[in-house]
Amino acid sequence: MLRALLAARCLCRPVPRLPPPPRRCRGSSRPGEPALSLSQRLAAVAAAAGLAGAGWLWLREQKERRRQRRRREELRELALGRGDFQLQDHTGRPRSKADFLGRWVLLYFGFTHCPDVCPEELEKLSRAVELLERQPRLPALQPLFITLDPERDDAAALRRFLRGFHPRLLGLTGTADAIASVARQFRVYASAGPRDADGDYIVDHTVLIYLLGPDGLFLDYYGRSKSEAQIAQSVQRHMETYEPLPQ
Ligand code: NI
Repeated sequence: MLRALLAARCLCRPVPRLPPPPRRCRGSSRPGEPALSLSQRLAAVAAAAGLAGAGWLWLREQKERRRQRRRREELRELALGRGDFQLQDHTGRPRSKADFLGRWVLLYFGFTHCPDVCPEELEKLSRAVELLERQPRLPALQPLFITLDPERDDAAALRRFLRGFHPRLLGLTGTADAIASVARQFRVYASAGPRDADGDYIVDHTVLIYLLGPDGLFLDYYGRSKSEAQIAQSVQRHMETYEPLPQ
């Protein structure tokens, strides 16, 4: 009786249809997922590794930029090279700080009678400028030499001395007061030693190459231990990451 009833019910209700069994694909670990060939998997792994690598490079770049910005701000707080100067170049033309605004400047203080250090540093500075000139997309860089010995280094003495260095190296001289003032701005120490029988003397002085940005503010400095390649690399880095600070 019961069986007959069940059978009767079954007859009056449609038998539910089961969904078709999932098709299994060869190579797929789970049913219903498309297969990945070995080369596709390798490509996926490579793409993931590439993304991770790019992400790491990006993070490193951001960190380096932050580090550079911090260093720039610290150096600017030293307020080196602020203020103007009134000097004349080795052709006799008056030059002020404003003449160099908008240009990158590598600046060195020294004196033309210096037996070895100043010529060495100016050769290094010249080679650094040449390295940077090989990259035409970088902005132009003005090499500058300011004498700390205005008594002997007039325009003619500068002209003779500068012949051995970069053709665009500009020499600046001026009155003793004007030179003392610009040296103070950059905290450059200079002290003339005792004169020998010929009246010759050595000027003891700070040996640093300064980098000034297009706004005329001091950005970095390079001591004697820095090579021309290191200087060029640092200058390039400053050029590529340069952001004028709000005044
Ligand atoms: Ni010197």
